[in-house]
Amino acid sequence: MASRGYQSGFGNEFASEALSGVLPTGQNSPQRVAHGLYAEQLSGTAFTAPRHANRRSWLYRIRPAAVHQPFQPLAPARLHNRFEEAPATPNQLRWDPWPLPERSTDFIEGLVTLAGNGGPAEQAGCGIHLYAANRAMEGRYFYDADGELLIVPQQGRLEIATELGVLGLAPREIAVIPRGVRFRVALPDGAARGYVAENFGALLRLPDLGPIGANSMALPRDFLAPHAAYEDAEGEFELIAKFQGALWRAAIDHSPLDVVAWHGNYAPYKYDLARFNTVGSISVDHPDPSIFTVLTSPSDTAGTANLDFVIFPPRWLVAEHSFRPPYFHRNVASEFMGLIEGAYDAKAGGFAPGGASLHNCMSGHGPDAASFEKASAADTSRPDHLVDTLAFMFETRKVIRPTRQALEAPQLQADYYTCWQGLARHFDAGPGA
Ligand SMILES: [Fe+2]
Repeated sequence: MASRGYQSGFGNEFASEALSGVLPTGQNSPQRVAHGLYAEQLSGTAFTAPRHANRRSWLYRIRPAAVHQPFQPLAPARLHNRFEEAPATPNQLRWDPWPLPERSTDFIEGLVTLAGNGGPAEQAGCGIHLYAANRAMEGRYFYDADGELLIVPQQGRLEIATELGVLGLAPREIAVIPRGVRFRVALPDGAARGYVAENFGALLRLPDLGPIGANSMALPRDFLAPHAAYEDAEGEFELIAKFQGALWRAAIDHSPLDVVAWHGNYAPYKYDLARFNTVGSISVDHPDPSIFTVLTSPSDTAGTANLDFVIFPPRWLVAEHSFRPPYFHRNVASEFMGLIEGAYDAKAGGFAPGGASLHNCMSGHGPDAASFEKASAADTSRPDHLVDTLAFMFETRKVIRPTRQALEAPQLQADYYTCWQGLARHFDAGPGA
């Protein structure tokens, strides 16, 4: 099973075959498929979803996905969707980086749920997970029936072999594995760590650009889908399913990554965050951080996302007479942040690559005292070049509820609030002050 490059475009009608002559012409489900394959449709949206939002692919495979032994429930894992088990707090929260595992741990075993909202039953909200792994998934395959998975590596490359082909993924790239697509993760660099958003709502899509026009931000041509690549393997394997928040296991006597050819617009994809065409102020002040949105999952309320994936990449800051770091703010939406590399310009310390922060609905936050004092005295007649930085945010309309294991983790910083305690009173009501 080898990757042979990628197909470019976002949500395009792709077509790929690892054996020539498999894809039928003029129909999807012929009486007999070439090479003795089975035809199977994988629907990612309702059959009757509007044409512009409709996603499905046709898979031509050695055996249909139905061929496996019955699923049995697995013991509760650190990966779950129990977002109501601990009280949500208005406090600002921040975590140190999650440690790499000491014992042998694959990608699925290494997933731990930090927070989330909504759930798979209501088809809205998201789960927010971290992964830390040191071993390839061997003889086991996984799919998530509850949502699509947005994977954000922070350390170490991933090789994600899916039913529709192989995605090679490195830090500063992201991947989206659609709901239901079976996959296996190998670790070319050994240890790997990163973040995952599990989107229960509408499929992630590119945001509208409004007055920005036809270009800028994330460009459709920079999204890459794999070519077909299949495994023809038989043995004692297992298929792990995440279904309604719980994990299930089924024995399977062959690799489920046996799709020899496929066509359609429901496929895994990857994106290099360095391709993001950042826009920003060239006069004064900041636009809202929505200008940094890479992908958005809309909700039923116009302009109000179920989940936004937002990045803060290297860039020039040129706004004059302006406070250049992110300003102090409170937000009706809730913000989970992670740091892929470098430092974040609103924090002088305490927010390390692999760490995380959570600022929920209407919880005040912004630059720490040291960052405020530095930026207030900066010479804004000269540009600043922000380099060695790549932070991101999962922003949601619903409060993000931390799990019990996140609140009880030793990585939780009990003193996070003190980063703002040094913000001195400067008020002077005197004339000309
Ligand atoms: Fe914020």
